[in-house]
Amino acid sequence: MEFTSNFLISLFLLSLSTLFLLHRSRNSAVYRRFPPGPPRWPILGNLLDLGSMPHRTLTDLKQKYGDIIGLRLGAVNTMVILSAKAASELFKNHDLSFAERTITETMRAHGYDQGSLALAPYGSYWRVLRRLVTMDMLVNKRINETAFIRRKCVNEMVRWIEEESHKVENKTCGIHVARFVFLMSINLLGNLMFSHDLVDPESKEGSEFFTAIMGLMETSGYANVADYFPWLKWLDPQGLKRKMERDLGKAMDIASKFVKERVEENKKKMVGDKRKDFLDVLLEFEGNGKDEPDKFSDRDVNIFILEIFMAGSETTSSTIEYALTELLCNPESMTKAKAELASVIGANRKVEESDIDNLPFLQAVVKETLRLHPPIPFLVPRRAIEDTQFMGYEIPKNTQVLVNAWAIGRDPDIWDYPLCFNPERFIGSKVDYKGQHYELIPFGVGRRMCAGVSLAHRVLHLVLGSMLHQFDWEIESNVNPADVDMRDRLGITMRKLEPLRAVPKKCNMLLG
Ligand code: HEM
Repeated sequence: MEFTSNFLISLFLLSLSTLFLLHRSRNSAVYRRFPPGPPRWPILGNLLDLGSMPHRTLTDLKQKYGDIIGLRLGAVNTMVILSAKAASELFKNHDLSFAERTITETMRAHGYDQGSLALAPYGSYWRVLRRLVTMDMLVNKRINETAFIRRKCVNEMVRWIEEESHKVENKTCGIHVARFVFLMSINLLGNLMFSHDLVDPESKEGSEFFTAIMGLMETSGYANVADYFPWLKWLDPQGLKRKMERDLGKAMDIASKFVKERVEENKKKMVGDKRKDFLDVLLEFEGNGKDEPDKFSDRDVNIFILEIFMAGSETTSSTIEYALTELLCNPESMTKAKAELASVIGANRKVEESDIDNLPFLQAVVKETLRLHPPIPFLVPRRAIEDTQFMGYEIPKNTQVLVNAWAIGRDPDIWDYPLCFNPERFIGSKVDYKGQHYELIPFGVGRRMCAGVSLAHRVLHLVLGSMLHQFDWEIESNVNPADVDMRDRLGITMRKLEPLRAVPKKCNMLLG
């Protein structure tokens, strides 16, 4: 009996090792000129090498395998870029070859990927949408015209924070900072999109849309085994696609109600009677009838609306949360930022977007935060359109490309004391995040660079500047700055594992 079981175990182990060896030898033939990486297991490939914090784990592999790593994640070939030099080669000389996106299974629900700007195949539909966003919705002139909306939303946020701080009985207990910035971002985007406030922290109703968006972001942030083993797609083993179908359907229904209301409102309005928001631009679009759609379908309009909320809300709140955390942990930088605001703005008025150019230290704080904590650490994954020769390697068509902006921001070959929060490094430096400097790429680079970077630039400075100008901030009682938990978690964006709780004390009473 014992012999039989030993025999069976040995047979099992033997077949496993044979499979492993066979797989490795097959791999080495197929991947002869694929970038180097850790050995692959049968079937799983390198999935187990990723760990729960892949941006960190993959950064650690650089020492052993170099700037470009090749992985096999289940059935998916993956190339990881870990240095500014490799990123510059990718974006300068091969941007077009890698201009497609990797589409996850959840993002195929309701054809989302087809209507989405961030995921659309690189082609005429993407070009039309991208042009509308960058030339009609977020062109500087239009952004200037909507400054009053952002001012109003930030004022509201300051009021919410103040009210919340009065509610907290124990004055050493902090408030959940990111929540207020997130709600403000949703209202801000709602106003730019279709001239509506969507949420108020007090209101239970009317937040249906907000809840639906939160659900979508949560579901799309989960790792889905069906993305790595395509033969499991039909099974949807974690039920994520089904959940996405349901939640996305709900969110699209609500979005379509907003659109219908708008169409009715527009019918009643006189010509020249109204300011154009993003939705008007979409509804009024007329294509050239050749390679462009004549009009956007209802589905595409709804998807676009959801996309703008998903792209612009968590990214903003995560950045502000990290910026404030870093400033609280680095009191010297906090003092400098506040001193700059006091001298440039003074006590009798509020920070305006037009002040940003005169606030170099605040700008340096935002850059330093995005260097250390890019909210989308791998950018939005690209995909090889065709077989491509890249820096001496052969990258097969459909290889997924992850550009590790987190690793690049902490590269000791580029940055002195890379792990220290030191905004001064940007004072007098020309480096910025607008896509020219490959060592700082939180918004990506090239054709598929963030379409909202100019809006995000203004919002981040206005929000952080207002929070620092109008409040003195302290860490919750009993927490030593050196002990603040800086761990992150990765979902659709990267954010603090332990949300920052900080104590605001109104310091600029004149500003109401
Ligand atoms: C802190 C704020 C933000 C950060 C860090 C951020 C970052 C990014 C990144 C890394 C990408 C992918 C770039 C690439 O693949 O090279 C991206 C794409 C995109 N972002 Fe942002 N983003 C932010 C805010 C916004 C805002 C406010 C909007 C819109 C209102 C927006 C709209 C988009 C869109 C539409 C894309 C897809 C572009 C395309 O594929 O052509 N983002 N963003």
